[in-house]
Amino acid sequence: MKETKRKEKLVFATGNAGKLREIRKILADLDMEILSAKEMGIEIPVEENGATFEENAILKAKAIAEACTETVTVLADDSGLEIDYLHKEPGIYSARYMGEDTPYSIKNANLVERLNGVPDEERTARFVCVIAAVFPDGETKTAHGVIEGRIGYEEKGTNGFGYDPIFYLPALGRTSAELSDDEKNEISHRGKALRQIKKELEKRI
Ligand code: IMP
Repeated sequence: MKETKRKEKLVFATGNAGKLREIRKILADLDMEILSAKEMGIEIPVEENGATFEENAILKAKAIAEACTETVTVLADDSGLEIDYLHKEPGIYSARYMGEDTPYSIKNANLVERLNGVPDEERTARFVCVIAAVFPDGETKTAHGVIEGRIGYEEKGTNGFGYDPIFYLPALGRTSAELSDDEKNEISHRGKALRQIKKELEKRI
């Protein structure tokens, strides 16, 4: 009987449904079984006490890798919104800004309010994403992705998640919440970082 090779497992250290949807779509054609940490039965709180996106991504990936009893590759991302006028706030605190459980409609309204009276050219902002991969042999790699935009004047659009409705892309004349999943993945910080890390994964399959 022909032996069928079992797919290697790729575990994602995120519980964020919006991120997971984007990640699964981008890595769909990779010949690996994609699972969230939760689907692997791992639900450990990881304290994101790093000083940078990179440190936090590595912290999360290593913590999940250590908790896995099987041979797997672990990916973790850390991402956030940097607003220049607010000295790069909320930055690494994007998820925790105003409290983890505060609805984004309130967080977004607060950021727009803090930019009240600030002209277009000073409303520059970017989404940053760092993805860390921990391979079965323990090697760690990171990939960075950035998308530049501006903070809008009100929420627009219902796609995406988090700060997408106030993240305006001047070249497209739309917020990232007005893009389809595929349009966003093509240009987003996470899409860029994921495609880089995907190349590393492909080398090892
Ligand atoms: P993390 O889960 O600690 O990496 O926190 C990332 C946070 O940054 C999210 O919870 C959002 O608040 C924000 N963020 C990151 N990427 C995006 C995006 O693509 N759209 C909107 N908000 C994002």
